[in-house]
Amino acid sequence: MSVQIDAQGDLRHFLTTEGLDPRLLGRILDTAESFAGVLGKSVKTVPLLRGRTVVNLFFESSTRTRTTFELAAKRLSADVLNIAVDTTTTKGESLLDMLRNLQAMQADMFVVRHHQSGAAEYFARHVDPGVAVLNAGDGWHAHPTQAMLDAFTIRRHKGAFEPLRIAIVGDIRHSRVARSQIHAFNALGAGEVRVIAPDTLLPADVDTLGAQVYSDLNAGLRDADVVIALRLQRERMQGALLPGESEYFRHYGLTESRLRGAHPDAIVMHPGPINRGVEIDSALADGPRSVILDQVTNGIAVRMAVMTMVLGVRPDTPREAS
Ligand code: CP
Repeated sequence: MSVQIDAQGDLRHFLTTEGLDPRLLGRILDTAESFAGVLGKSVKTVPLLRGRTVVNLFFESSTRTRTTFELAAKRLSADVLNIAVDTTTTKGESLLDMLRNLQAMQADMFVVRHHQSGAAEYFARHVDPGVAVLNAGDGWHAHPTQAMLDAFTIRRHKGAFEPLRIAIVGDIRHSRVARSQIHAFNALGAGEVRVIAPDTLLPADVDTLGAQVYSDLNAGLRDADVVIALRLQRERMQGALLPGESEYFRHYGLTESRLRGAHPDAIVMHPGPINRGVEIDSALADGPRSVILDQVTNGIAVRMAVMTMVLGVRPDTPREAS
């Protein structure tokens, strides 16, 4: 039994999209859809997590993930603590001691981003029963809520996954986002998932990931319905894997003209942060095909969905009187 699934088959933690039942992934998307409806109203808050405490524990920088987790928790009426991890860790405290101390404050959920692959699972294996852990990105391993907000965005723009050709372009090697996307898109029934990158930016296990591999951008983009650009993760590169950013843009940078071979209605996505003129040009990032800011908006509803599911709270749970 996986640590993230309980004996009833429900989500207990959310650590990875790998191996998850497609029905469970579909339930995340459907629950997010109901929260997206709430977020469209003038009063955007529901009391589903009132009295619960969510701890954002970020050991790496983040703009979108940390803030949308915080907003999601606040929309659910939870109390939110944002821990300044750098200040805490410089005093020599171990991860486990930090966890125990935060649990002693009766935290109900930890949202963890860490540079080490497996860090979120480590937390999940050590929290008290009833406390949930959400992976907000661990090393090169997984970023499951990013993959689910991307799936949610694709479903909203394109409908069913079955006919879709989804192309992921760029630094696949260092991308926890790409791994989580490939698992999620395949489980949701995508017609074809492709990765497009130079050999130096493909992981050693690329043949086992469940994606068609392309080194030529034009070939990989042919007839694609969804095109996802990834950031070059310089901070994770040891040694020179690329001749230079302008050279990279010449071969793998996305532009409107390079999308000519894709489906005429293809949408363009990027998990952010974007490097303009490196992996995507500004005209495309800001143009009519781009759904990049929709991805950010959708992150709130998807994170609300996952937060309620891991605590066993259903959106149709009767609300207590305010
Ligand atoms: N997509 C993503 O994880 O962005 P942040 O690093 O800003 O959270």
